[in-house]
Amino acid sequence: MAGKVSVIGAGAYGATTAHRLAECDAFDTVVLTDVVEGRAEGLALDIGQCRPIVGFETHVVGRTTGRGGDGYDVLAGSDVVVLAAGVPRTPGMSRQELLDTNAAVVRDAAAQIARHAAGAVLIVVTNPLDEMTALAQRVTGFPPSRVIGQGGVLDSARFSTFVADELGVPVSSVRTLTLGSHGDAMVPVPSRSTVDGRPLAEVVDADALDALTERTRTGGGEIVALLKTGSAYHAPSAAAAAMARAIAGDTGAVLPACAWLTGEYGIADVYLGVPVELGVTGVRRVVTTPLAESELAALTEAADTLRERQARLR
Ligand code: APR
Repeated sequence: MAGKVSVIGAGAYGATTAHRLAECDAFDTVVLTDVVEGRAEGLALDIGQCRPIVGFETHVVGRTTGRGGDGYDVLAGSDVVVLAAGVPRTPGMSRQELLDTNAAVVRDAAAQIARHAAGAVLIVVTNPLDEMTALAQRVTGFPPSRVIGQGGVLDSARFSTFVADELGVPVSSVRTLTLGSHGDAMVPVPSRSTVDGRPLAEVVDADALDALTERTRTGGGEIVALLKTGSAYHAPSAAAAAMARAIAGDTGAVLPACAWLTGEYGIADVYLGVPVELGVTGVRRVVTTPLAESELAALTEAADTLRERQARLR
């Protein structure tokens, strides 16, 4: 595999994503940028110096960018751009409370992405995720299939981990799915979740299932409360890197992600977490999977909430 991936925002999430993408040798070049003078360059040197130890060849390039657009020419020729700039939550804060601050960051960065990496597939990870993905699509003017948010890979990884730990089984025997928002309107989907192929509801009782889905919904906040400064980035960066690799490798992997709906699940005109097939063009198609009646109702409700929030950002 060859090509170039650029990560905007060299904070915890962005730098770890760049590191993961460099180590897997899936791209010729990984670019890392940040507005803090020298941070991206320093981290790029540090990540690049892992090469002889870990054994990979990816070139890692760091660049300081100015808010007016200086330095963004480094994005030219990117196949994939990961937008990871913006502030994280502090304990007790909802992702929604980041909206005003991070909308300004996303508007600024998205305009530069459109200018310098007009052919890229854009993966947004900045929170509040669903709103920032919709905003990035609007500002770039990219086709919605080329602007995708990372939420569902992480949320379903958290769900799978909690299930595996509860039952004392390997995570590899667990499959879970979460849809809806990457936030309060998240829709964990037990009907599509299995342990060794058996429906989740057959292997845990109703109370345990409720506790597992609730912990999944609040899984990010649990980590923020423990860390006290900053939010999760190890599993989030693994999720973003998995999406970037699926896109660059044109693999057709089906992953849950925040994508634009045009009638799938009876829902349209909103960015919402759904399973998508990923390839070099971005979202090849939204995958419609059968849902229980209550799950479809929750997804429809999440769509209504998000459509309204996304419209408010116009
Ligand atoms: N362009 C580039 N980088 C920027 C910009 C900008 N306009 N504005 C801020 N940054 C950089 C900061 O300088 C910092 O290095 O974004 C980085 C954010 O890093 P952290 O504070 O460590 O936050 P992180 O944990 O990486 O989270 C980033 O991802 O999960 C979400 O909620 C989280 O929205 C947050 C984002």
